[in-house]
Amino acid sequence: MPKIIALAGKGGVGKTTISALLIKYLSEKKMTPILAVDADANANLNELLGLELGITIGQIRKELKGEMQPNMTRDQYMEMKVHQALVEATGFDLMAMGQPDGPGCYCAANQHLAMTMDHLADNYQYIVVDNEAGMEHLSRMNLRDIDYLLVVSDPSARGIMTAKRIAELTGPLGIRIKKKCLIVNRVPEPASEELLAKIREAVDSTDLPLGGLLPASNELVAQEIAGKSYLDLADSVPVVKKAFAIFSEFLN
Ligand SMILES: Nc1ncnc2c1ncn2[C@@H]1O[C@H](COP(=O)(O)OP(=O)(O)O)[C@@H](O)[C@H]1O
Ligand SMILES: [Mg+2]
Repeated sequence: MPKIIALAGKGGVGKTTISALLIKYLSEKKMTPILAVDADANANLNELLGLELGITIGQIRKELKGEMQPNMTRDQYMEMKVHQALVEATGFDLMAMGQPDGPGCYCAANQHLAMTMDHLADNYQYIVVDNEAGMEHLSRMNLRDIDYLLVVSDPSARGIMTAKRIAELTGPLGIRIKKKCLIVNRVPEPASEELLAKIREAVDSTDLPLGGLLPASNELVAQEIAGKSYLDLADSVPVVKKAFAIFSEFLN
C-alpha cells in the first residue's frame, strides 16, 4: 500500500513549491517510486520539476462522457488513457488532474477514475498530492485515507488560522488524516523575536503540530525565474536543507 502525502493551504502560500521539494527529498532518499499528482486546475508543479504535461485526467473524464470505442470497456479505456496521462521521470511519475468537471453528469466517469486510481496506486511507494485550497480531488480519486497532511501557511497569525480551517475541510469530505503538521513558509530571514513569538502563539491556538518554519529564499525565486527544475537545487541551499529536515522528522 502506498503512503499518501497531501499538501493543503490557501493559494500562493507555497504548496507547489513544497511539493516539488518533497518529491526531490523522496527521490534522493530512494523512497521511490513516487506518483506526483498535480490536483490544481491551474497545473504548474510540472514546471518546478522541469517537465512537460501530458493530457490531464479532466480531459479523460470529459471523453469518457462521450461515445466509446466499441471494442473497449470504459475501465479498459480509462486505464489506457491514465497511462497516457503519466509523465515519467527518474524515480517518479507525474499526473495532472486538470480542469474541474463542466456541466453534465460525471458520476460514472468519476467511478471509473476511482477504480483506475486504486489499481494505479499499487505501483507506488508514495503518492504526493499537490492540492488546491478545496480538497475535492482527494475524494474524487478515492483517496480517503491520508497518511500525512502538510498544511502550509504564510508567516502571519491570520494565515495560520486560515491553515487550521483548511485542514478542517477534510472532515466533511470524509477524508481521514493519520498525521498532520503545519509548515509556516516564507519566514523572513532573520526573523524578529516578535514575529517568531506571534507565530508560536498562533500555532499553539490550533490543534496543528508545528512541522517547522521555511525561510523566504532567493534561490527558489532565482530558480523559478530561470525556468530551472527545483530538482537541480543543491541540498546545501538553506531552504532545501530546512525542508529536508522537516520531511525527515515528519515522515519517520
Ligand atoms: N520559501 C519561499 N521563498 C521564496 N519564494 C517562495 C517560497 N515559497 C513559495 N515562494 C513563491 O511564492 C509563489 C507561490 O508559491 P506556490 O508554491 O506556487 O504556492 P501555492 O502552490 O500554494 O499556490 C511562487 O512564485 C513561489 O516561487
Ligand atoms: Mg500550487
